[in-house]
Amino acid sequence: MAGGDEVKEVRNQQVLARDYISAIPEESDMYLNTSSTIKLRVPDDDDCQEAMLLKNLYLSCDPYMRGVKHSDEAASSTLEDRIVFFATDKPITGYGVAKVLESANPKFKQGDLVWGMTGWEEYSIITATDSLFKIHNTDVPLSYYTGILGMPGMTAYAGFYEVCSPKKGETVYVSAASGAVGQLVGQFAKLSGCYVVGSAGTKEKVDLLKKKFGFDGAFNYREEPDLDAALKRFFPEGIDIYFENVGGKMLDAVLPNMRVHGRIAVCGMISQYNLEQPEGVHNLMHLVIKQARMEGFLVFNYYHLYGKFLEMVLPAIKEGKITYVEDVVEGLESAPAALIGLFAGRNVGKQVVLVSRE
Ligand SMILES: NC(=O)c1ccc[n+]([C@@H]2O[C@H](COP(=O)([O-])OP(=O)(O)OC[C@H]3O[C@@H](n4cnc5c(N)ncnc54)[C@H](OP(=O)(O)O)[C@@H]3O)[C@@H](O)[C@H]2O)c1
Repeated sequence: MAGGDEVKEVRNQQVLARDYISAIPEESDMYLNTSSTIKLRVPDDDDCQEAMLLKNLYLSCDPYMRGVKHSDEAASSTLEDRIVFFATDKPITGYGVAKVLESANPKFKQGDLVWGMTGWEEYSIITATDSLFKIHNTDVPLSYYTGILGMPGMTAYAGFYEVCSPKKGETVYVSAASGAVGQLVGQFAKLSGCYVVGSAGTKEKVDLLKKKFGFDGAFNYREEPDLDAALKRFFPEGIDIYFENVGGKMLDAVLPNMRVHGRIAVCGMISQYNLEQPEGVHNLMHLVIKQARMEGFLVFNYYHLYGKFLEMVLPAIKEGKITYVEDVVEGLESAPAALIGLFAGRNVGKQVVLVSRE
């Protein structure tokens, strides 16, 4: 630490939430605070014994950020509970890629690159440093650590391989298939020798699925008046694996189309996040008839597999066996609209905010 030396103080623009979001999120629910400053050193406070000062480079926009309301009562020692996503007096918290400017944690040093939970601001003091991963491979774009090499990549990997246990020749359906998680699930399914179909909300995204990500089939769910008929068209013999990203009507349409011993990995239900009352699901009886398994999962519980995941995915990226599409906006001022855009499907690929090029 800098000891008694003069400490530089710099501007620290931050994105803050005005209040907890209770309906459809809007850009105006957040604002850019341009008057904040920060001293570029790790404070001597008791809670900063292992803290790090980070310069944020890339921030990740993720659907979970919309709704998680942190209550102080929930504060506990678990990683998930300590993550404060939306507190009105602090910058929004989310995944990002950053450079270490100073570290009181002996596992990290100045100049290291990390990914994990950080703040929507130019510089962050992170006290919960156990949520940060050191970046060792820098011969890929750094922004990939917000996506394919970070939390969404691990989500696709854990959900597909660990929850769904795919077998060669099986049929796989992925919803929100062109997004951060979906585009990877589809490509993992192809690498596993499966037949894979995805759905997305625009023609451009459907084209991406077929032409760039190698899906065997794809459809625009917004243009299908009868989702059951659409699924029957692509899966006349039924679905072995459904990777669930959207919930609601889509889940209801999928259930009767599952095959015996099918698996549904419930990754998320984005169509439900902005509803005051979640829609009901009517076709659950098909789980019984098909002796199918439907299992929710959280990526946090699979981070112990991160090393194994990198061993698989890094060579696949470098050999061109896996491709990846990002949607990058520049500047913290663009972050609120980028986050909100996830719920209108404006993002084409993984939504990233570039804060600084270093
Ligand atoms: N379980 C976990 O640990 C975990 C971790 C990460 C993410 N997730 C979940 O995984 C899912 C995908 O996340 P992501 O980061 O990859 O996001 P993403 O797919 O990159 O972006 C969200 C996409 O969802 C689609 N969408 C938005 N509103 C919709 C609606 N009402 N109905 C249908 N589709 C809608 C939009 O695509 P279209 O244009 O195609 O509609 C939008 O682009 C989300 O449900 C998320 O919550 C779970």
